Amino acid sequence: MPFPAERPRRLRRTPAMRRLVSETTLEPRHLVLPLFIREGATEPRPVPSMPGVVQHTSETVRKVVVEAVEAGVGGLMLFAIPERKDASGSAAYDPDGALNTAIREVVGEVGAATVVMADLCLDEFTDHGHCGVLAADGTVDNDATLDAYRRMAVAQAEAGVHVVGPSGMMDGQVGAVREALDGAGFADVAVLAYAAKYASAFFGPFRDAVESSLTGDRRTYQQDPANAVEALREIRLDVDEGADMIMVKPAMSYLDVVTRAKDLVDVPVAAYQVSGEYAMIEAAAANGWIDRDRAVLESLTSIRRAGADIVLTYWAVEAAQRLSRG
Ligand code: PBG
Repeated sequence: MPFPAERPRRLRRTPAMRRLVSETTLEPRHLVLPLFIREGATEPRPVPSMPGVVQHTSETVRKVVVEAVEAGVGGLMLFAIPERKDASGSAAYDPDGALNTAIREVVGEVGAATVVMADLCLDEFTDHGHCGVLAADGTVDNDATLDAYRRMAVAQAEAGVHVVGPSGMMDGQVGAVREALDGAGFADVAVLAYAAKYASAFFGPFRDAVESSLTGDRRTYQQDPANAVEALREIRLDVDEGADMIMVKPAMSYLDVVTRAKDLVDVPVAAYQVSGEYAMIEAAAANGWIDRDRAVLESLTSIRRAGADIVLTYWAVEAAQRLSRG
């Protein structure tokens, strides 16, 4: 026997050889760009903890979505920051509310050239910052929240959204939203379920980005970071309730969950590279501690390799442009 018996390095010798045997693809169509639109804003406002990310005005969001379409991104995920919040988050289902207006404007701009998705959750709209409405004792009332989600789904569909993304982790939210959409004649609007969403510290910068009012935490509805089997249960339930696609969130600390999700279901699996994941790489790069451009593509490739069909990332446009340039 010659030694070493096997020489894997033969397949790494040249760029052409490496390209031939590469196992994972990362293409613009795999990427979804989350966007923040601030009601009433006249200037885009930088989000300090997310360098390069802004709260858009209705003017600037139109420009960026056109750029995103040109870059070939697979989709957009819209979030809005409303001028007024209340205990029930009623602006979420007001047809003229910040998010529904943004959906109308974005769909008006891009039409069917990319997939327009919207976050379906009350946390941007409630004055207490929770993802649902509160019962008299201050706990989040699951079933009362489902009623609000139903109205929100129909309002988003009326505004022209292609995909709704229920992200509040209420029990039964996918079934409730599916039923409401079908009942209102929107059988064609798809549901991307934030199925396995963790109570994560990596959402920190996002809470700046949407000016969250939350005090306390979301541990009675978002999942314990220690649990993966429970994530599979959440995913199974969402698919049974009619989810067209499911999501794991955050991505990079939960790649095992992404892989197990991909093995479990026969619908597309998305993973959300969240604000804190973005901020960590940007901050390390700003300090000269990491090669930013390589780290960005490596992180996205890793999420794809773990099994994600779709990756939500704040770098979607930049990454798509770099990938098409080759
Ligand atoms: C809830 C929602 C959150 C994120 C997306 N949808 C915040 C939360 O659950 O606290 C986080 C996204 C990110 O951190 O990039 N509407």
